[in-house]
Amino acid sequence: MAKRVVVTGAAGFIGSHLCEAMVARGLDVLGIDCFTDYYDPRIKRDNLAALLAGPRFQLIEGSLSALDLERVLAGASTVFHHAAQPGVRASWGKTFEPYIENNIRATQRLCEAMRALDGARLVYASSSSVYGNTAELPMREDHRTRPLSPYGVTKLAGEALCLLYADNFGVPVVCLRYFTVYGPRQRPDMAFHRFIKAGLEGAHIDVYGSGTQTRDFTFVDDVVAANLAAMEYAGEVPVFNIGGGSRVTLNHVLDVIGRVLNRKLDVRYTETQKGDVMHTFADVSLAARELGYAPKTTLEAGLLHEAEWLESLGRRLGKG
Ligand SMILES: NC(=O)c1ccc[n+]([C@@H]2O[C@H](COP(=O)([O-])OP(=O)(O)OC[C@H]3O[C@@H](n4cnc5c(N)ncnc54)[C@H](O)[C@@H]3O)[C@@H](O)[C@H]2O)c1
Repeated sequence: MAKRVVVTGAAGFIGSHLCEAMVARGLDVLGIDCFTDYYDPRIKRDNLAALLAGPRFQLIEGSLSALDLERVLAGASTVFHHAAQPGVRASWGKTFEPYIENNIRATQRLCEAMRALDGARLVYASSSSVYGNTAELPMREDHRTRPLSPYGVTKLAGEALCLLYADNFGVPVVCLRYFTVYGPRQRPDMAFHRFIKAGLEGAHIDVYGSGTQTRDFTFVDDVVAANLAAMEYAGEVPVFNIGGGSRVTLNHVLDVIGRVLNRKLDVRYTETQKGDVMHTFADVSLAARELGYAPKTTLEAGLLHEAEWLESLGRRLGKG
């Protein structure tokens, strides 16, 4: 009998790619998503269109905060937990509430339900934001975690909850700390999406800060490969960095986007945003050794894929 896996946040950027990869492997996939309005839910519906047309994917539309999770998860061999309220900048002030609800409470409910699953694995989508500004680069899993944003605090809390249920109830847990993921379906609030869209439309591009900040950018297919490896992992290490294997400045990214789009970009530098760390750089040697993780996609190839998707999305959703 085919194994069934569950993906929370299935309609999102990373979750939808993961569902497709699982279906392509011949697995039955149950996706859960409540289509939050953090960004246009029409994009999330578009992400799921191909999956919903096939026989191996089933969607439960509902929130992890409300669903009867023990019933929903019954029979699952692995649960990939990608549902979250993302974004660093919106996590300050009055809009913190959905971060508590979707990143902490929802994760606690999911962990409780995992207890009934008898050995099913939980793979948690964690984030480089748990580190904050580290004194040492590259960032290693045993470095101090001191998030610089409320979002990072909630992602770290989610990770701590997963590890708590591993320690107390033996739930098999793997936490993957992603470093800025990009590629087709990237969220509209994320830098590459904003830059490419503005480039395609001939609009100006706002860059927060001087553009000299560096990031370790990770192509979404590499993140999916890490999840597949985590599903089959037989070892004991609970937390891994998942980075793209190279680290570049935002200004370098803009050069590459200009080349990929074959046009000159109108770049304007604005104030640094609170919560944005200056540098991220993943040491992925632990994931390489334990999971066989090896990022494969170059920045140029990955950006081209994202630009092609954005162009076609614009056509599908229309200008309005
Ligand atoms: N994109 C990145 O660069 C990045 C980096 C580090 C970590 N992550 C983590 O990866 C995961 C996926 O990120 P993404 O960029 O694909 O975000 P996304 O917003 O595209 O996807 C998240 C999905 O979760 C759903 N969701 C939110 N709360 C829910 C709830 N309570 N119940 C059911 N569904 C809910 C949303 O509707 C959305 O479709 C998140 O956990 C995020 O924190 C992402």
